[in-house]
This record gives sequence, structure tokens and C-alpha cells, in this order.
Amino acid sequence: MSVEFVGKKSVITPEGVFIIGTYDENGVPNAMNAAWGMQSDMGEITLMLAKHKTTENFEKTGAFTVAFGTADTVLICDYFGVETGKKVNKIEKAGCHVHKSAHVNAPIIEEFPLTLECKVKSWDTETGYVIGEIVASQADESILTDGKVDLGKLRLIIYDPSFLAYRVVGDVVGKAFGDGLKLK
Ligand SMILES: Cc1cc2nc3c(=O)[nH]c(=O)nc-3n(C[C@H](O)[C@H](O)[C@H](O)COP(=O)(O)O)c2cc1C
Repeated sequence: MSVEFVGKKSVITPEGVFIIGTYDENGVPNAMNAAWGMQSDMGEITLMLAKHKTTENFEKTGAFTVAFGTADTVLICDYFGVETGKKVNKIEKAGCHVHKSAHVNAPIIEEFPLTLECKVKSWDTETGYVIGEIVASQADESILTDGKVDLGKLRLIIYDPSFLAYRVVGDVVGKAFGDGLKLK
């Protein structure tokens, strides 16, 4: 027997833990947590954002970074989602270290092992969709296997909207573009 959830109670999963890094006009770094985002083309990410310090920032700089939340960074990830850079310097308060991306005017937060460096391709204030063109990415050697990002090493987290929790992405259970061929 199935249980029906009506309307907004629906659970859409997985949702990400995307940490969006920006600079303000004075070069002060900020970061926010966003669950709603996805790959929307090769080399492109789309995020759905309300108006925040973050959006004010990238409206001015035309750039942002996206770091991926991990089990090791879960506390600061959540902090970046419950405080605003309009009031405090969250980067400082969280004890994070940043340097400027070599490619875009946005900060790389060194505590995160995987980061995309994006130029704002479009920002629609009506829908809240910001599309980022990924011009480069940085991965810490500790999360690589044979030069590839290894999600097992990354200990990526996702946002669980049902329990308002963060969960670690786990085991490999199948081979993509491979296992299904057995049924062809
Ligand atoms: C788990 C979680 C997920 C969130 N997802 C989003 C999101 O997808 N889009 C959004 O606009 N805000 C989202 N937020 C809220 C922002 O992170 C929050 O308003 C933050 O304070 C904005 O920071 P800023 O004002 O420094 O830019 C989320 C917060 C949390 C805790």
C-alpha cells in the first residue's frame, strides 16, 4: 500500500549542498548554501535562488564559485545557510580560508575539496534561475583516484528535505551505461 503526499509535501530527491562563494564590491568574501541546483548542460550549472547577499554580489562581479558540501564541512555548510553575509562576515566567523579564483572574480574556499569556478551566464530575477558557465574547477588531490574525482573519497553530502538532514553519498551499486546493457 502506498501513502499519498499532497502538493508541496512531495519529496524531491536528491537535492544538493551547493556552497556558492562570491565577493562583494569591496572584495569581502561570502558563501551561502543552496539545495536547488543541477547540471543544465556540459560545463553549465543552474541554481534557483531567492534574493540574497550572494545574488547582490554576483550581480556586481558577474561570477561565483560552487563548492560541494562534504561530511567534513557539514557544520559550516549549514551555517552558510542560516546566516546572512548582510550582517556578518560568515567566512571569518566559520574560520574558513579563501583565495581568489585565477579565472573568475570569486573566492575559492580552501576547506572544500571540490569547487567550480563560474561566470554568470544569465540571472533571471523573476524565476530566480542563475546559470553559471563553468570555466574551471579545482579538486584537491586527496579526492582523486587516477586523476578523476572520486565521490567515495569526497564524502559528498546531499540535503534530505524529508528529515531536514544532511546525508553522505555512499556505495557504488551499479555501472552506468553498462549494467542496463545486460537487459538489452
Ligand atoms: C539546507 C539549506 C538549503 C538552502 N537552499 C537554498 C536554495 O536552494 N536557494 C536559496 O535561495 N536559498 C537557500 N537556502 C537559504 C540561504 O542559504 C540563506 O538564506 C542564506 O542566509 C543566504 O546567505 P547570504 O544572504 O549570505 O547570501 C538554503 C539554506 C539551507 C540551510
